Amino acid sequence: MRFDILTIFPDFFGSPLKQSILGKAIEKGLIDVGIHNIRDFALDKHNTTDDSPYGGGDGMVMKVEPIVRAVEAVKGSRKSEVKVILTTPQGRQLNQQIAAELAQSSNLIIICGRYEGVDERVKELVVDMEVSIGDYVLGGGEIPALVIVDAVTRLVPGVLGSDMSARDDSFSEGLLEYPQYTRPESFRGLTVPDILLSGNHQKIKNWRRRESIKRTLERRPDLLEKAQLTEEEKKAIKN
Ligand code: ADE
Repeated sequence: MRFDILTIFPDFFGSPLKQSILGKAIEKGLIDVGIHNIRDFALDKHNTTDDSPYGGGDGMVMKVEPIVRAVEAVKGSRKSEVKVILTTPQGRQLNQQIAAELAQSSNLIIICGRYEGVDERVKELVVDMEVSIGDYVLGGGEIPALVIVDAVTRLVPGVLGSDMSARDDSFSEGLLEYPQYTRPESFRGLTVPDILLSGNHQKIKNWRRRESIKRTLERRPDLLEKAQLTEEEKKAIKN
């Protein structure tokens, strides 16, 4: 899977793409990330990428030409279908389902929005999907772009140690994850639930499922409406 990130802060991405799962996925060739400076696609000698808004008002707006030219340049170098995303607080809110949808694409271009906004014509001309990472405003779209790359990369086959780990994640079946423990068995009087030490895999599986549902009910009851539950589990929640 190939990601192309269009930004006016290319240096932002150096370290995060070298670490942990993303770093390993790139090293193994499972994903490939290109960082492109939008400034390189500006048309004037000062490489201007923003300008004041028509109609007046504070702040600057990202110009249409450099972004459209950058998208077209990247698209021109790709053979397969490309999906273009714009990061903006006005977009569809990212969730596990959208991440899974995006993981089906082989090429994603992510345009990092900045300033007070992006010229509306960028959206009309080249953007397929506007994505928000939550109801709060960040300085720009660089962190959201990394969030998208991270969430999608985890779903690319072969990226996680075993395909099981992504399947057990919070949200994968619409539920939050069960509580996890590792050594030591006891710390400051807090002990690991006996069942996890029992070696009885079926019982452990059942306990984890119950804890997932309990936790989701307590913390995110909104998720239960769409979660995949058995009739028995649905009844248990009602009681
Ligand atoms: N740019 C600024 N804030 C953002 C957010 N919450 N999601 C996506 N892009 C953004």
